[in-house]
Amino acid sequence: MFTPKILVIPGSLRTGSHNVRLAALAAKELALAGAEVTRISLQDYALPLFDADLVAAAGLPAAAVQLKQMLMAHQGVFITSPEYSASVTPLLKNAIDWVSRVRERGEPGYAAFKGRVFAIGSATAGGGGGLRSMMALRQILELGCGALVIPEQVGVPRAEQAFDDLDNLRDETLAATLKAAVQRLVELANVMSRA
Ligand SMILES: Cc1cc2nc3c(=O)[nH]c(=O)nc-3n(C[C@H](O)[C@H](O)[C@H](O)COP(=O)(O)O)c2cc1C
Repeated sequence: MFTPKILVIPGSLRTGSHNVRLAALAAKELALAGAEVTRISLQDYALPLFDADLVAAAGLPAAAVQLKQMLMAHQGVFITSPEYSASVTPLLKNAIDWVSRVRERGEPGYAAFKGRVFAIGSATAGGGGGLRSMMALRQILELGCGALVIPEQVGVPRAEQAFDDLDNLRDETLAATLKAAVQRLVELANVMSRA
């Protein structure tokens, strides 16, 4: 039986980050749903602020190529994104912009995005649950990069109180939404693997 490989990426580096916590829970649910899960930190892919002159002068940074190859090695990706000023973090947007520029020999553009399926989530300290961040991320991935993003998305408001001692979501509806997103991601990653 085929085991889909899913990459989990939190869009925050902050110590005690709610989105790192949500990413860890998503990774646990994905493993329970039968996926082989890799969870990374963008800390390990340090990239300068995107500047086309840097590319012209020195080519693409190794970290951009490595992150793109990490995406390529998985059929599905789960991204948890904080909400900054009604959008995604600069960390996440910058990483996506860099990866979007990596095009290896013979590949079509945006290969890291078009060839796999994405799920998104967000956790915020306030009551909005990162809805605007997820709308922005959906736009970036779908319209900007040609990715398939599943409709199920999990937005966790008041994240400070949202997780119990075992790091599960206290709210049953939210927990069920995460499970539904995970289930759909794994199903479509399976389909992608056969495409
Ligand atoms: C620059 C900045 C802008 C922010 N803008 C928003 C916002 O527009 N909406 C919101 O709900 N929270 C906003 N926040 C609060 C973050 O959602 C909150 O700090 C969250 O915990 C960050 O995610 P993390 O815990 O994963 O690091 C902002 C925080 C920062 C630092």
